Amino acid sequence: MTYCVTGACINCKYTDCVVVCPVDCFYEGENMLVIKPEECIDCGVCVSECPANAIIADTEPGAEKWVEINAQYANQWPNIRKLKPAPADADEWLNVPNKFEDHFNPNPAKQS
Ligand code: F3S
Repeated sequence: MTYCVTGACINCKYTDCVVVCPVDCFYEGENMLVIKPEECIDCGVCVSECPANAIIADTEPGAEKWVEINAQYANQWPNIRKLKPAPADADEWLNVPNKFEDHFNPNPAKQS
Protein backbone atom coordinates (compact mmCIF):
# COMPACT_ATOMS: atom_id res chain seq x y z
CA MET A 1 0.00 0.00 0.00
CA THR A 2 0.99 3.62 -0.48
CA TYR A 3 -0.52 7.04 -0.20
CA CYS A 4 -0.67 9.30 -3.23
CA VAL A 5 -1.25 12.96 -4.01
CA THR A 6 -4.24 13.78 -6.22
CA GLY A 7 -4.93 16.71 -8.51
CA ALA A 8 -6.46 18.60 -5.58
CA CYS A 9 -2.88 19.65 -4.76
CA ILE A 10 -2.48 21.55 -8.03
CA ASN A 11 -1.85 25.27 -7.48
CA CYS A 12 -2.47 24.83 -3.72
CA LYS A 13 0.87 23.25 -2.82
CA TYR A 14 0.71 24.07 0.88
CA THR A 15 3.60 21.65 1.64
CA ASP A 16 2.34 20.91 5.17
CA CYS A 17 2.55 17.26 4.12
CA VAL A 18 6.31 17.48 3.59
CA VAL A 19 7.02 18.58 7.15
CA VAL A 20 5.43 15.54 8.77
CA CYS A 21 6.74 12.85 6.40
CA PRO A 22 9.23 10.67 8.32
CA VAL A 23 10.84 9.30 5.16
CA ASP A 24 10.98 12.41 2.92
CA CYS A 25 9.09 10.73 0.09
CA PHE A 26 7.59 13.87 -1.51
CA TYR A 27 8.75 15.19 -4.89
CA GLU A 28 8.03 18.63 -6.29
CA GLY A 29 6.66 19.73 -9.63
CA GLU A 30 5.94 23.30 -10.68
CA ASN A 31 2.42 23.26 -9.28
CA MET A 32 1.94 19.92 -7.51
CA LEU A 33 3.70 17.44 -5.24
CA VAL A 34 3.74 13.66 -5.58
CA ILE A 35 4.69 10.73 -3.32
CA LYS A 36 7.18 8.08 -4.43
CA PRO A 37 5.29 4.83 -3.84
CA GLU A 38 8.40 2.73 -3.14
CA GLU A 39 9.47 5.12 -0.39
CA CYS A 40 6.12 5.70 1.32
CA ILE A 41 5.86 3.63 4.51
CA ASP A 42 2.06 3.94 4.69
CA CYS A 43 2.05 5.85 7.98
CA GLY A 44 -0.66 8.23 6.72
CA VAL A 45 0.34 11.19 8.90
CA CYS A 46 0.36 13.51 5.86
CA VAL A 47 -3.31 12.87 5.05
CA SER A 48 -4.82 15.01 7.80
CA GLU A 49 -2.18 17.73 7.41
CA CYS A 50 -3.25 18.69 3.89
CA PRO A 51 -5.69 21.65 3.84
CA ALA A 52 -6.78 20.61 0.33
CA ASN A 53 -7.52 16.98 1.29
CA ALA A 54 -5.31 16.05 -1.63
CA ILE A 55 -3.73 12.88 -0.24
CA ILE A 56 -5.49 9.51 -0.45
CA ALA A 57 -4.66 5.86 0.16
CA ASP A 58 -4.21 3.67 -2.89
CA THR A 59 -7.08 1.53 -1.64
CA GLU A 60 -9.60 4.31 -2.28
CA PRO A 61 -11.79 4.22 -5.40
CA GLY A 62 -10.08 5.89 -8.36
CA ALA A 63 -6.66 5.92 -6.71
CA GLU A 64 -4.98 3.76 -9.36
CA LYS A 65 -4.59 6.68 -11.77
CA TRP A 66 -2.99 8.83 -9.08
CA VAL A 67 -0.55 6.12 -7.97
CA GLU A 68 0.68 5.89 -11.57
CA ILE A 69 1.03 9.66 -11.87
CA ASN A 70 2.85 9.82 -8.52
CA ALA A 71 5.25 7.03 -9.51
CA GLN A 72 5.97 8.62 -12.89
CA TYR A 73 6.71 12.13 -11.70
CA ALA A 74 8.51 11.13 -8.49
CA ASN A 75 11.20 9.81 -10.81
CA GLN A 76 11.44 13.11 -12.69
CA TRP A 77 11.02 15.79 -10.03
CA PRO A 78 13.34 16.86 -7.18
CA ASN A 79 12.85 15.70 -3.63
CA ILE A 80 11.32 18.27 -1.25
CA ARG A 81 12.00 18.11 2.49
CA LYS A 82 11.09 21.55 3.81
CA LEU A 83 7.99 23.68 4.11
CA LYS A 84 7.71 26.33 1.39
CA PRO A 85 5.32 29.28 1.34
CA ALA A 86 2.15 28.31 -0.53
CA PRO A 87 1.33 30.24 -3.72
CA ALA A 88 -0.34 33.58 -2.94
CA ASP A 89 -3.56 32.43 -4.58
CA ALA A 90 -3.52 28.89 -3.11
CA ASP A 91 -6.83 29.30 -1.25
CA GLU A 92 -8.59 30.34 -4.46
CA TRP A 93 -7.68 26.96 -6.00
CA LEU A 94 -9.22 24.90 -3.21
CA ASN A 95 -12.09 22.77 -4.54
CA VAL A 96 -11.61 23.85 -8.17
CA PRO A 97 -12.68 20.78 -10.22
CA ASN A 98 -10.64 19.04 -12.95
CA LYS A 99 -7.39 20.73 -12.00
CA PHE A 100 -5.27 17.89 -13.35
CA GLU A 101 -6.94 17.96 -16.76
CA ASP A 102 -6.91 21.74 -17.05
CA HIS A 103 -3.95 23.02 -15.05
CA PHE A 104 -1.33 20.31 -14.45
CA ASN A 105 2.25 21.41 -15.14
CA PRO A 106 4.56 18.41 -15.78
CA ASN A 107 7.77 20.41 -15.28
CA PRO A 108 9.92 19.91 -12.21
CA ALA A 109 9.93 22.69 -9.63
CA LYS A 110 12.58 25.30 -10.19
CA GLN A 111 15.36 24.90 -7.65
CA SER A 112 15.95 27.94 -5.50
FE1 F3S B 1 -0.27 19.51 -1.85
FE2 F3S B 1 -1.65 19.22 0.34
FE3 F3S B 1 0.92 18.75 0.38
S1 F3S B 1 -1.95 20.82 -1.17
S2 F3S B 1 1.72 20.14 -1.14
S3 F3S B 1 -0.59 17.60 -0.79
S4 F3S B 1 -0.24 19.73 2.01
